[in-house]
Amino acid sequence: MERQALPTIDFATTVGPVPAGKEVKLSVRDLAISFYTDKGRVHAVRGVSFDLYRGETLCIVGESGSGKSVTSRTIMGILAGNGHIDSGSVTYEGEDLTKVSEEEFHRIRGDKIGMIFQDPLSSLNPIMRIGKQITEVMVINGNHLKHKHDEIIKTELVKLKNDERLLSITRDDFIYAKKSLNGAKKHKKTAEEIKTAETELATKKAIYEGKKAELGPKIKEDRKALADKKRVAAVEVKKMADKLKNEHRERLGKVVDAFKHNHKLNLFYKSVVKEHREYISNIRVTQKEAKARALKVMAEVGIPSPEKRFNQYPFEFSGGMRQRIVIAIALTANPDVLICDEPTTALDVTIQAQILELINRLKVAHHMSVIFITHDLGVVANMADRVAVMYAGKIVEFGTAADVFYHPVHPYTWALLSSIPDVDSKERLEAIPGTPPNMIYPPKGDAFALRSKYAIGIDFKEEPPMYKVSDTHYASTWLLDPRAPKTVMPKIVSTRIENSLRKAGLKK
Ligand SMILES: Nc1ncnc2c1ncn2[C@@H]1O[C@H](COP(=O)(O)OP(=O)(O)OP(=O)(O)O)[C@@H](O)[C@H]1O
Ligand SMILES: [Mg+2]
Repeated sequence: MERQALPTIDFATTVGPVPAGKEVKLSVRDLAISFYTDKGRVHAVRGVSFDLYRGETLCIVGESGSGKSVTSRTIMGILAGNGHIDSGSVTYEGEDLTKVSEEEFHRIRGDKIGMIFQDPLSSLNPIMRIGKQITEVMVINGNHLKHKHDEIIKTELVKLKNDERLLSITRDDFIYAKKSLNGAKKHKKTAEEIKTAETELATKKAIYEGKKAELGPKIKEDRKALADKKRVAAVEVKKMADKLKNEHRERLGKVVDAFKHNHKLNLFYKSVVKEHREYISNIRVTQKEAKARALKVMAEVGIPSPEKRFNQYPFEFSGGMRQRIVIAIALTANPDVLICDEPTTALDVTIQAQILELINRLKVAHHMSVIFITHDLGVVANMADRVAVMYAGKIVEFGTAADVFYHPVHPYTWALLSSIPDVDSKERLEAIPGTPPNMIYPPKGDAFALRSKYAIGIDFKEEPPMYKVSDTHYASTWLLDPRAPKTVMPKIVSTRIENSLRKAGLKK
C-alpha cells in the first residue's frame, strides 16, 4: 500500500499553529550561531525555531554539544565574545531581543527573563554574603536612579573629597612628625637628632595650619554645596521615580479598564495587575525593604532559618541550598520567563528531585514560563509540557511530552529513549553509538545518519525537511517520507513505552 505523504513545514519561519487558548511569550525563529576559533568556525546552532507559551515548561533535550546552552545564552544576551548571531530572531513581547540596544536588553533581561545554571557556585560570588547577593539584584532595579543621583552630585562630591584629601595629607605629615619626635625622646636619641625632629615638627605643623586656614572654610563651603546638590538630586530622582511609577500606573489603569467587564479575561487580568503592582513597588527599593523581601523569597525557595542564613557565605551552604539561593536571586526580579540550564546536573538524585519540584511549584505560583534544558530524558518526563529534541545544532523532533514519549518518530529520540536508565532496573540499556559530530564540519544531510542504523541513502546527501506528524508534533527525518522503507522503532523503546502506558493505567 502507498504510504501517505506527510505535509512538511518551513521550520525557519513557522513552528506550526499556536493551539487555541495558548499565548506565545517568547518566540525564536531560524536562530543560527557560530563561534570563531583557532581551529575554524564552529556552527553551534543551525536554524533553531520554537515558541514558548505562557505558563508552560518547554524542555530542550539533547546530548552534550548539541547547542542547548548556546541557544539559551543567546536568548539571555550572554553569548561568549567569539560568538556571532548569523541569522534569526528572538522575540519577546513584540521586541526582537537580538536587535534592541544593550541598555534596553539589560532592562528586559534583568526584569523579565531570568536564568539559572548548572553550577550554582559559578553564579554566586564566593566572598559576598548570601543576603547581599539577593538584595543586590533588587536594588539594581533602582540602580539607574542611583546613577542619576550620583551623576548630579558628582562635581560637588569630587571637589569636597579633593579638598579633604589635601588637608588630610598635611595632617598625616604633622602627626607623623609628632610621633617621630616622641620616638626620638623615648629612645634617648642625641640632642641633635631631637632638635632635627623638633624643627621638622614645627615645619609640618606650620604647613598643616596653613592648609587648615586655607582649606577649612573651603571644605565647609564644599560640604554645604554638596548638601544643596544632594537636595536637588533627591528631587530629580523622586521626579524620575514618580514618572516611572505613573507610567506603570497608567498602563495598569488601561489594563483594568480593558478587562474589568470581561469574565474570561479576569484571570489573565489579575496576573497582569499583580505583575505591574510588583513592578511599581520595585522601582525604588530601600535596603530594609530589600532585606524583608529577600527573607521572604529565601523562605519561599525552602531555605530554613533565612534570618541566620542571610549573613552567611556561599561555602556555608550545601549544593542543593546554593541552587535554591540562585533560584531565589532569579525570582527577586519577578521574571516572566525562567531559563534553567541543567540546574540539577551537579546534584545528587534526591536533591535533584526536590529542586525540580521547587521549580514546578514556583512556575505556577509566579505565572512563569520555563525553558528547561537537560540531557536527561528522565528529568524531562517530570517537567515538560512540550519537548524539543536537539541534535547537532538543530531541533530534530518536537511535540507535547506525550508525543515525544509515547509516539517518538526520530531515530535520535529513539536512541535517547533507549539510553535512559530503566525506572525499575535502573539499568542504562543502550548507549548511543559513536560521538556527536565536530561542529566545525557539520555533516551533510541528516547529521545523525552517521550514528544511526536506520540511515538511508538520502540521509548522507540531503537534509530532511520538518515533517508534520500532527498539529503538535513535528520531526525532521527522512524516515517519515513516503518513499522511505517502512521502519518501526526499536523493540526496547516500544517495550518501554508499553510498560509505562500500562503503569499509568492507559493500556492493558
Ligand atoms: N565560546 C565558544 N567557542 C567555541 N565553541 C563554542 C563556544 N561555546 C560553545 N561552543 C560550541 O558550541 C557547541 C554547542 O555547545 P553548547 O554549550 O550549546 O552545548 P550543550 O548542548 O549545552 O551541551 P552540554 O550538555 O555539554 O551543556 C559545542 O560544539 C561547543 O563546543
Ligand atoms: Mg550546556
